[in-house]
Amino acid sequence: MGEEEQLLKPEGRPGDVLANYTAVCSIAVLVIVTWITILSNDPTNVGWFAFHPTLQTLSLALFTYGILTLQPTSQPRTKAAGLARHQIAIFLVGLPLILLGTTAIAYHKWINNKESMTTWHGTFGYLALTWLLVQVGLGGGSVWFNGAAFGGGAKAKAVWKYHRRA
Ligand code: HEM
Repeated sequence: MGEEEQLLKPEGRPGDVLANYTAVCSIAVLVIVTWITILSNDPTNVGWFAFHPTLQTLSLALFTYGILTLQPTSQPRTKAAGLARHQIAIFLVGLPLILLGTTAIAYHKWINNKESMTTWHGTFGYLALTWLLVQVGLGGGSVWFNGAAFGGGAKAKAVWKYHRRA
């Protein structure tokens, strides 16, 4: 760490540790319980459905990590490293997994001649996915190619605040 960075404000904030543990424990319980339930109940018997809860919860864990890894970063070097981890976890791994998990349930319903969006879970699931894609568009658009999609520089940074807020 350079001398300048040492003089900058510390990155930790009061309450960070507790919030971090709460988030990690919650997502860990969700993933472990879901995977054990599916894997211990003859997953090959339920066809494509088995991929849905498993991949959805795994992607949620990646999203959680991708968000936590930015909490907080305030110095240029840690910001850049955090942004790289954020994009790998969320965009490169989590997003493809949630798209696969959703495709698995949609396909499962289709081959079994079941209607789509017949429950609140299904409807909100598609809504959440749409929101997620908008989030990716706002976040990626404001940093990729220096935010060219939103006019670059300060204009793109102004859009990024909506990505943070959502
Ligand atoms: C991020 C988490 C999740 C999202 C975004 C999500 C999304 C969806 C969507 C969009 C559908 C509707 C498919 C269609 O109608 O074509 C669906 C169906 C379903 N999901 Fe999930 N899901 C998630 C997690 C889970 C989990 C953890 C389970 C645990 C068992 C689960 C069980 C089901 C079941 C049984 C259906 C079929 C019945 C229905 O349409 O409600 N899902 N999900």
